[in-house]
Amino acid sequence: MAPPLLTALAALTLAPLVLATPATLLPCGAASYLPTEYVCYNNRTLCPIINSLPLSHCPPSGGCYAPQQFSCDAATGELRTLPEAAGDRPFVLTAWGTRSAYRGKEVNACGGYLAIGANARVCTGCPKGREGVDCGEYGGRTVFRGDGRMVSCRCPWGQYWYIHPSDGVLKYTDVLVPPATTWVDERPERQWTGRGTTAYENGFLVADGAPHYFKACLRTHLGGGVGTGRAWRLYATSNWVALDADCEPVKLVATMVDAKMGAYEYH
Ligand SMILES: *[C@@H]1O[C@H](CO)[C@@H](O)[C@H](O)[C@H]1NC(C)=O
Repeated sequence: MAPPLLTALAALTLAPLVLATPATLLPCGAASYLPTEYVCYNNRTLCPIINSLPLSHCPPSGGCYAPQQFSCDAATGELRTLPEAAGDRPFVLTAWGTRSAYRGKEVNACGGYLAIGANARVCTGCPKGREGVDCGEYGGRTVFRGDGRMVSCRCPWGQYWYIHPSDGVLKYTDVLVPPATTWVDERPERQWTGRGTTAYENGFLVADGAPHYFKACLRTHLGGGVGTGRAWRLYATSNWVALDADCEPVKLVATMVDAKMGAYEYH
């Protein structure tokens, strides 16, 4: 049997999910485990599931690892860091955490903030009358690049995502309209673009000093009544243990997508 305390704690943490179906312990060799909390490899090795991300098993060394953090050398068992996403390569961000409301869903841009959840909208508009732009290419998704730009276009305008230094919230800028020379003065937030984050290819987005974790905090949209139109805003944090009441730890995974000429504006 799993230790009673561990079982009780898991039931408490995942109360809305676990109460619906009674927790069933499965055998893994001589041990028992909760399939919502662990993965069993070869009837031998138990790996904890971190924020709903199942870990893989690296057979030669026996190590557990998240494929979004390391790759496993099948010959030596060595865990290797994933390559960084090159600055000009586009990716979407997918959220991983305990809640089904946002687990596996893409990070969206709306109202100046990056957010997750069933009610996190993506607010795009097509920049009309601009050459070489196909607004349908990315299907209205929120697409990032490692250099801080959003979407992929060879064009003089653009938008940038950044971590606001005052509270760590993930935001994005207005659309850049030429002449660009005056832009930095008008929009000081542009200077924070690309600071403090590293995206790995099909791996975690990592903020300096906050390894692998972001916090997601529940917010109600403007004009939305309590309990409606709610989404989780994202923050870089170095202390996910001491979260506010309406915040939860999540991980963000950068999934690479093809470079296209799609370009639209996020509002
Ligand atoms: C798993 O391990 C246990 C204990 O060693 C053993 O009794 C059981 O037969 C094994 N199951 C499988 C499918 O190998």
